[in-house]
Amino acid sequence: MKTSQALYEKAVAVLPAGVNSPVRAFRSVGGTPIFMERGEGAYLVDVDGNRYLDFCGSWGPLVLGHRHPRVTAAIEDVVSRGWTFGTPVAEEVALAEMVVDKLRAVEMVRFVNSGTEAVMSAIRLARGCTGRDRVLKFRGCYHGHVDYLLVDAGSGLATFGTASSAGVPEAFARLTATMPLNDPAGLAQLFESLGGELAAVVIEGVPANNGLLVQTPEYVAQLRELCDRYGCLLIFDEVLSGFRMPKVMAYEQYGVSPDLITMGKVIGGGMPVGAYGGRAEIMQRIAPLGDVYQAGTLSGNPVAMAAGYATLREYYESDVPGRIEELGGHLDRGMQDALSSVAEMGYLRQGSLFWLYFHRDEAPRAAEDISGQGAEVYARLHRFMLEHSIYLAPSSYEVGFLNTAMTEADLDRFVEVLRAAVKEGLVQ
Ligand SMILES: Cc1ncc(COP(=O)(O)O)c(C=O)c1O
Repeated sequence: MKTSQALYEKAVAVLPAGVNSPVRAFRSVGGTPIFMERGEGAYLVDVDGNRYLDFCGSWGPLVLGHRHPRVTAAIEDVVSRGWTFGTPVAEEVALAEMVVDKLRAVEMVRFVNSGTEAVMSAIRLARGCTGRDRVLKFRGCYHGHVDYLLVDAGSGLATFGTASSAGVPEAFARLTATMPLNDPAGLAQLFESLGGELAAVVIEGVPANNGLLVQTPEYVAQLRELCDRYGCLLIFDEVLSGFRMPKVMAYEQYGVSPDLITMGKVIGGGMPVGAYGGRAEIMQRIAPLGDVYQAGTLSGNPVAMAAGYATLREYYESDVPGRIEELGGHLDRGMQDALSSVAEMGYLRQGSLFWLYFHRDEAPRAAEDISGQGAEVYARLHRFMLEHSIYLAPSSYEVGFLNTAMTEADLDRFVEVLRAAVKEGLVQ
């Protein structure tokens, strides 16, 4: 770890905590972050030459694994011609056509540069369309670092939020109502008092940023019905869940029709891309067709668009969801067996996302149901996994990502290491 440690020491002098995104700093698992040099299919290689089976997958984009040949070729082809022109390019039309062709909820799409931007822009659009300012989000859902979505619960159900980050004006936070997930009665009550003021409700397709909090179809249907009744838009934030579900998108999984969806991660194949899309009548409100302004210097740049297009072509042509279900089923069997004698930890999977949760008989459906005690056990497990060449996300609240570069043998090894951790009493 010599080179990695030396880089970290240099990094902390010039980057806050040595990182450009907080969770990478390993604060919740202890130790110092590992600097990576290369990706090889299902594996990461660090700057000291150590190889890890990678369940972090760059936090979601790499559903085909690292450096898939088709994506590599597409990027190289574009780069050989130039990488940004600030003009329309064929690559953005190809990706847009693919998205519109494949996704029932999307008649038109606009590309941006991150998931944060996608959600921020979709909410602006919803505000523009409804003429209302307020939005509802759910505790435990993450939608990027936009001001009015970095909001905690206010006191009492029908009150508006308070900022969860310094630097967020209270006036912005007050535009956002927050409430727990999976609370049908509370939802009905909230709409009764505030429904007429809401521009949009935003929910993660499958909430997966604070554990994996799978919602029931009945709850999602209730949400759709209430949005219709009160004339506010339903935004499914599929930045993380998109292209990760057995039916591709979470809204298909639930059989619901959101007004707008936001995307990111997989849709850019590992390049900085976000997107928002929905019905044409709504999307046509975006400038220059309509009065909702949104723009971007590098939006739709050919490198990112080509990487996304190559990824999605491969995704559909080689039936990635099908292969993921094979791999996932294999992992399910191994995990259930390895954890049969373990009381404090459970395992849950949705498509290519899995989560290890703690101290519960049942899988939690709301952030409030998650035991904070799990963080300590997870920190020990995380260290043990690293020692055994397995890279898990450095926080117990994060999910693991499967990809099609993984093999059954890779997953068996993960299960074996978990068994060894149980045997050593790290997890009980
Ligand atoms: C559901 C969801 N929305 C939005 C975002 C923000 O995306 P980005 O980090 O690309 O800004 C994330 C990031 O993890 C996410 O998971």
